[in-house]
Parts: sequence; C-alpha cells; structure tokens
Amino acid sequence: MADLNLILLGPPGSGKGTQGERLQEDLELPYYATGDILRGAVKDGTDVGLKAKEYMDRGDLVPDEVIIGVIADRLESGEADHGFILDGFPRTVPQAEALDQKLGEISRQLTAVILIDVPDDEIVRRLSGRRVCTEGNHVYHVDFSPPEQEGVCDIDGSELIVRDDDNAEVIRNRLVQYHDKTAPLVDFYDGQALLNRVDGSMDPDRVGEAIRTLVSTLSLEEGT
Ligand code: AP5
Repeated sequence: MADLNLILLGPPGSGKGTQGERLQEDLELPYYATGDILRGAVKDGTDVGLKAKEYMDRGDLVPDEVIIGVIADRLESGEADHGFILDGFPRTVPQAEALDQKLGEISRQLTAVILIDVPDDEIVRRLSGRRVCTEGNHVYHVDFSPPEQEGVCDIDGSELIVRDDDNAEVIRNRLVQYHDKTAPLVDFYDGQALLNRVDGSMDPDRVGEAIRTLVSTLSLEEGT
C-alpha cells in the first residue's frame, strides 16, 4: 500500500490549520504545522524558539536552515513512515528543494500539494477575527466559526486568545512575504504535476468536502 504524503499550501489565513485539523482526523496521519511547532518552541524557550521569535513577531519567514532542520528531524524520526500532512512547510523554493532531497534520501516522494486559494481581502477579514486556543492550537473565528462559549475552546476548554502576529501591520507583511517567497511554489509544484487547487473562499465545510473528495481520488490512484 502506498502512503499519502501531503502538503497544504496557501496564504496566511487561507484555512490550512482549519482543514489540516479535519484531514488529520480523517486520515490519522502525523500533522506537522510549522507555525504551531515554532510557537511551541518560542513558548518553551528552546534554541529554535529563540532564533524564530523576532522573525515571527515581524511576520517575516524564519531562516530556511532553522525550519528545514525541524522538519528533517520529524521525517527521520520514523513517526511519519506511513505518510504525513505538512502545513506551512515548505514556504520557499530552497525549503521545497531541501524537502525533495530529504524525501529522496529516505526513498519517499510527495503524493500531492493542496493549494487553498483565497484572495487577500478575505484573508484580512479572517485573520482579524481569528481566535486560537492556548492548549491544542484549535482555531475559531468570532463570526465564521465561533466557539459555543465565548473565549473558551469547545474541544479542550482552554482559553482562546488572539495570536501575536494577527495585527494589521504584521498581517500585511505576512501577505507580502507570501506573495514574494511562497507563491513561487505554485509553479514549482505545478511543474512537478503535484499541484491541486481548492477554492478556499467557500465556507469551511464546503472547503473540507472539496479536500476530502480530492484526497479520496488520490487514495484510489495511490492504491491506499
Ligand atoms: P503559520 O502559523 O503557519 O501562519 P500562516 O501561514 O500565516 O497561516 P495561519 O496559521 O495564519 O493561517 P491558516 O492558513 O492556518 O488559517 P486558519 O485555519 O487558522 O506561521 C506563523 C509564522 O511562523 C510565519 O509568519 C513565519 O514567521 C513562521 N513560519 C512558519 N512556517 C515557516 C516556514 N516553513 N518557513 C519560515 N517561517 C515559517 O484560518 C484563519 C481564520 O479564518 C480562522 O479564524 C478560521 O476560523 C477562519 N476560516 C478558516 N477557513 C475559513 C473559511 N473557509 N471561511 C471563513 N473563515 C474561515
């Protein structure tokens, strides 16, 4: 049986985390969201966290060598031997090339890249209303996906907060970084015939359905 090795690609706030959580439940695969991993590292005060914090606070990308090491460690650990979902990595062409090289070393290859497409003005609306829980990184929106009880996570009961980088100035810079450094990956993966576009401007359930349908097709093609 072949494995599903998936990448969720898309601008900040496109719904990678929202859909990644659903996909992880459906597929029961390890899910590596580099933003969550880095925020955890900052909270724990690790070397990686200390290196990453200033970049994240500004909305810049952390240096490639820092984040490539983080993902390489996970792929080498054995826990992703039967597939994985990557969210937020790769985010530059050098990161994508490093990922290809690492997967080649362990005789693996990507199954598909899922691009969640959302226009910039919608991104700003989404990120300005986002709330995240302090315990499990569960994601809400004050209007589009509110919790049952205001300020409290439905799933683990922890407090909901506004992320440090969800303020207008940093959101603007994150979009600039995306268009400048990450959007070239669309052509990069299109050139490898791995790119699959999903319209991320629909409501979360419809986006989830579109991704589920796509993944079912991929599973059939891969014989999983
Ligand atoms: P990261 O945490 O990955 O941030 P991001 O890419 O900016 O993505 P977000 O988490 O903001 O958005 P999302 O697409 O997950 O959307 P979500 O589901 O939350 O990275 C943070 C920082 O870490 C980076 O700026 C960088 O510094 C660093 N970093 C991380 N990876 C790196 C790498 N590889 N290289 C270098 N640096 C790296 O949804 C957003 C909101 O919209 C929520 O409120 C949600 O409820 C709502 N929503 C979701 N879907 C819908 C929908 N369909 N309709 C309406 N609302 C919706």
